[in-house]
Amino acid sequence: MSNPDPIVSDDVTAEPAGPDAVPTAMTPERRVHLKAAEGAVLRADDLIAGYLPGVNILNGADLYCQSGELVGIIGPNGAGKSTLLKAMFGLVTVHSGAVTLSGDDITNKRADVLVGKGIGFVPQTNNVFSSLTIEENLEMGMYLAPKRMKERFAFVAGLFPSLHDRRKQRAGSCSGGERQMVAMGRALMMEPSVLLLDEPSAGLSPVMQDEVFVQTRKINQAGVSVVMVEQNARRCLQICDRGYVLDQGRNAYTASGADLMHDPKVIQLYLGTLGKVQ
Ligand SMILES: Nc1ncnc2c1ncn2[C@@H]1O[C@H](COP(=O)(O)OP(=O)(O)O)[C@@H](O)[C@H]1O
Ligand SMILES: [Mg+2]
Repeated sequence: MSNPDPIVSDDVTAEPAGPDAVPTAMTPERRVHLKAAEGAVLRADDLIAGYLPGVNILNGADLYCQSGELVGIIGPNGAGKSTLLKAMFGLVTVHSGAVTLSGDDITNKRADVLVGKGIGFVPQTNNVFSSLTIEENLEMGMYLAPKRMKERFAFVAGLFPSLHDRRKQRAGSCSGGERQMVAMGRALMMEPSVLLLDEPSAGLSPVMQDEVFVQTRKINQAGVSVVMVEQNARRCLQICDRGYVLDQGRNAYTASGADLMHDPKVIQLYLGTLGKVQ
């Protein structure tokens, strides 16, 4: 690796990577993060990132996901939640800070490379090939390892039996909830060590939203580490092991899902009545 892990160092004067590097403060929260993030399957440290030169959307965001964890990210619209997922998946340029997968620096690596390394990503929209069948969609997920198609299809079908039963159906004719299952199934085909989900329940009926949370828990219980962004904040905090509240591109609060859900400040600022379980 070109950059020998400056982020796990306790040396607060260590220079971060990149020419635009502007290290953010070593707050007590970041100290806790650095300690707890050790050995994580996926971690983001002090990320400064954005779409346009000179306009940072992430302003020093930290996140980690230990093996087997289900991690939730909530926060207001425009907080940078999707940007954080995309920055970890090589779709947004990281100007400073680091993204690490199982100890390897993967900062600014290309998304297709990251799929091969074990990250699955399900974007919020346009996440299936409508004109292809369910089976063909799942095959697309396996283009890097076509020989394992049968074995991985069996795994995904075990989680989502309806995908197997309806494998010849075109994805475009599926309901929103089913399409979400196809998208998650496709991302699972490559046996990712961590799955990134961007608002999987968005735009679904309340019943299907609930189904997506149940499915996400099931995926996690099958051994896949999950980082999920969600607009249905309460439901997300109910099922996740740990949660992050992101605001203006940085961590506002982080704790166990249960603790965040009952934190008066989090309720007042981020949950209110809008986030009620549907
Ligand atoms: N492709 C893009 N180009 C430029 N700015 C963008 C792009 N996508 C998002 N943004 C901006 O980044 C900020 C954070 O967006 P986003 O990460 O989508 O927030 P969230 O997912 O928390 O609602 C917003 O101000 C948004 O306008
Ligand atoms: Mg978003």
